[in-house]
Amino acid sequence: MSTHDAPPPSRWARSGPQATEGFGRRFAELVAAGQDVDGEARLADALLPRGARVLDVGAGMGRVSAALQARGHRVTAVEPDGGLVAQCRATYPTVDVVQADLLELDDARVGRVLGDRPHQVDLVVCVGNVVVFLAEGTERQALATMAGRLAPGGRLLVGYHLVGGPEHARAYPPEEFVQDAASAGLRVQHRFGSYELAPPSDEYAVWVLTADA
Ligand SMILES: C[S@@+](CC[C@H](N)C(=O)[O-])C[C@H]1O[C@@H](n2cnc3c(N)ncnc32)[C@H](O)[C@@H]1O
Repeated sequence: MSTHDAPPPSRWARSGPQATEGFGRRFAELVAAGQDVDGEARLADALLPRGARVLDVGAGMGRVSAALQARGHRVTAVEPDGGLVAQCRATYPTVDVVQADLLELDDARVGRVLGDRPHQVDLVVCVGNVVVFLAEGTERQALATMAGRLAPGGRLLVGYHLVGGPEHARAYPPEEFVQDAASAGLRVQHRFGSYELAPPSDEYAVWVLTADA
């Protein structure tokens, strides 16, 4: 794909309304019931100085962005799914959400997509199985695009299921992910098994990556 093409449809977009709308409904119910949906954001917050710049890519209905904004960070949510963007705006009116594919955050297009929002950030958040829903064959490009948005010292937080993930998501073995990350100039700082920093597991992977040498 050249930088001028429209991004290819992601596995998420191709998984159909039953899956995508079901995801939105499930989180609407959790939020309405007062359930904790902030686990990823708590770890993200621990990685950041106060008042930091954050890009939440594949932000879904905005729960992580909202929790980070509530902790004082300047957050831009980026989400291509129009239904989830609408849900984000309705649920969290103060969250700044841009409807776009993360592949459009490359150097050639980031200005057009983000306008005067920060183009370089302290943390890119890409959690909740986003990387296993990318379009086939775009993983390296996606990782390079996210790496390109990191300010010096910035980090990338990624989390996804290694087994038992959602229907329509790919399997993404840790070794392959680390190779893809390396091809994008990203180095693993930490791997955990959960957002509560459980030891690495075969079930779920949480990665903290840096583009710094
Ligand atoms: C399971 S949802 C997780 C949403 C959110 N991160 C959360 O944890 O609540 C997966 C998300 O990945 C997003 N996604 C998949 N491919 C994407 C891409 N190329 N660019 C941006 N988002 C993408 C989907 O639109 C969807 O919102």
